[in-house]
Amino acid sequence: MSRRLFVTCALPYANGPLHIGHMVEHVQGDIWVRALRMRGHTVHFVCADDAHGTPIMLRAQREGITPEQLVAQTWQQHTADFRDFGIGYDHYSSTHSDANRALTSRIYQALHDKGHVEVRPVEQFFDPEKSMFLPDRFIKGECPNCHSRDQYGDSCEVCGKTYSPTDLIEPYSVISGARPVLKDSEHYFVKLADFEPMLRDWLAGRRAAGGLQGEVVNKLEEWFTDGLRSWDISRDAPYFGFEIPGAPGKFFYVWVDAPVGYLAAFRELCERDGLDFEAFTDPAKAAAEGTEQVHFIGKDIVYFHTLFWPAMLHGAGLRTPTAVNVHGFLTVDGAKMSKSRGTFINARAWLDHLDPDYLRYYLASMLGPTLGDVDLDLKSFEERVNSHLVGKWVNIASRCAGFVHKFFGNRLADALRDDLRARYDAAVAQLAPLGDLYEARDYAAAMRRFVEVADTTNSWIAEQAPWVIAKDESRRDELHQVCSLAINLFRLLSTWLKPVLPATVARAEAFLGAATTRFTDADAPLLGHVLQPFEALMTRVDPKKIEAMIDASRESLKPAAAPASAPAPAAPSPTPAAETPATVGIDDFARLDLRVGKVLACEFVEGSDKLLRFELDAGPLGTRQIFSGIRAAYGEPGKLVGRNVVFIANLAPRKMRFGLSEGMILSAGDGGSDLFLLDADQGAKPGATVR
Ligand code: MSP
Ligand code: ZN
Repeated sequence: MSRRLFVTCALPYANGPLHIGHMVEHVQGDIWVRALRMRGHTVHFVCADDAHGTPIMLRAQREGITPEQLVAQTWQQHTADFRDFGIGYDHYSSTHSDANRALTSRIYQALHDKGHVEVRPVEQFFDPEKSMFLPDRFIKGECPNCHSRDQYGDSCEVCGKTYSPTDLIEPYSVISGARPVLKDSEHYFVKLADFEPMLRDWLAGRRAAGGLQGEVVNKLEEWFTDGLRSWDISRDAPYFGFEIPGAPGKFFYVWVDAPVGYLAAFRELCERDGLDFEAFTDPAKAAAEGTEQVHFIGKDIVYFHTLFWPAMLHGAGLRTPTAVNVHGFLTVDGAKMSKSRGTFINARAWLDHLDPDYLRYYLASMLGPTLGDVDLDLKSFEERVNSHLVGKWVNIASRCAGFVHKFFGNRLADALRDDLRARYDAAVAQLAPLGDLYEARDYAAAMRRFVEVADTTNSWIAEQAPWVIAKDESRRDELHQVCSLAINLFRLLSTWLKPVLPATVARAEAFLGAATTRFTDADAPLLGHVLQPFEALMTRVDPKKIEAMIDASRESLKPAAAPASAPAPAAPSPTPAAETPATVGIDDFARLDLRVGKVLACEFVEGSDKLLRFELDAGPLGTRQIFSGIRAAYGEPGKLVGRNVVFIANLAPRKMRFGLSEGMILSAGDGGSDLFLLDADQGAKPGATVR
């Protein structure tokens, strides 16, 4: 039975470039859409940029442009990246659109009218200089646990502890450097608990129909057990987003209008192409017509897509998702992508150095229907692409095309000998299961079977040895038969590879002089058919180009971003990569100026229950004042006078409420009262370098 679907991938934030982690998702979605179409299903594939939120607003300010300008620029870059990676969206929109504003208001109004919205005050950090409330990610300070400096308001990237911004020692606003103050504001909440019965029904339905993976079902069950808390859907001005109708100065939190953006983008497509939007979005019509709504997302945003989103849709009288397909995260060489190691690879950096189809194939060979992470191991990437694609697949054509050209005017045989025809039919049967494997998103299994058939084909060609037959003029007919079958097997394999390698297979089809639109189009071989001249379809991966790409992506370690009086405002991405490289070079260590200091004075700091004020004799560097959050461990600061400590002398000085802090004193331990100052044996001179 032919399916009719509307398919999306998660909407990338418009505050930065796409990276190859994003491509895992868009390649996964794109392969699925292409494969379903080749099975005869009708698929509409849409996406959009997620244009709203604080990071985008601040980034625009920093660049001295309007958010609208930033969003427009980013849209150009994102669409160019997707196009060049062969991601074939029917429509790529933006959440900052009239269609989305209208739909978001309509959905909100419905929730509001049915009593699912409540208003209550929330106490939150506020930047008094910028006059704005600060999201957790825009507050930094000293980790209350390990005392690492400059940690985000929600968690520490050094020790991994999560906490609330109010737990930070010496919090400061990432935007202005000011000390934030607590302030009350009215917030709008959707009462998610109202939707629990409906969500349980939806879950049961998905479970029966196979629209959610087992791991996701388990997560949902857990969340139900924990209880569904109300969802804060409002943010205060200034905010780049849609104002909430009837609530001046209040804006929809970006996660409200972002998923609605799926529908808005699809509606635009429907208007453009004359499709029936309601057939996909009205519950009764959708049920009657059997249409589907399928989302591809990463494992970090499951909560939004399996609780908030179905609840919003249901509350607004719209159809709920048929399936939410979740994938894991991309790692490179076994670790989280890292800027310092050059493995945080932007989509454009890849395109500048390597064929996008290389990545598409490698990802396909790694992707299954689970939430497991996908590792891009650069060595196996190189080997796999070279072996599977160049060595096995392309090789079939390049070994035989020359003979067809030279002896047969580029024309394939008019008929295949019975035994060869049987061989072709066997390959058709062997590859047929790829259809179901693609549909079940088990691309890795599909690629394994593809490689098996390519292997058997190559062994058969080696047995036949057309290069030997070609030397014997009396065996021309046999040569024609062997090469015609080989070229047809190449075409069959190419057809099954088409969802994965659209650009390369398009070149293969130019050589074949015939294109397929359905998998079954290659069930019958091409006979008496004239080929076009053979040109190299794909070259081996050049390891130098991988290296060049890594070099281009490597960002030299920036000096520790210690906010002095006017810190550089950094807009962290909403899902920042924790940058903790496993190893550092000696050069990195040499960047730290570690010194011995002799404690001249040490005292409590009035108004702080965490800090001690040190005055250090730093020898040739003079005296240094340093505030250190170790009060709980050293209740009698006077006793520290005269001893040696180790401190970082080249940390950017930092203005604190109590005065300037000119460095950082090192201690060992888990924090709180469990902290021990490092010592240097007697004889070490003040200011001596620690190396
Ligand atoms: N804007 C939201 C999504 C809104 S959908 C209504 C968002 N944007 S994002 O740019 O941070 O991420 C977009 C998608 O890319 C998410 O599904 C996310 O899981 C995925 N990925 C981001 N980094 C990734 C990897 N390193 N690996 C695999 N997928 C990754 O979240
Ligand atoms: Zn910490």
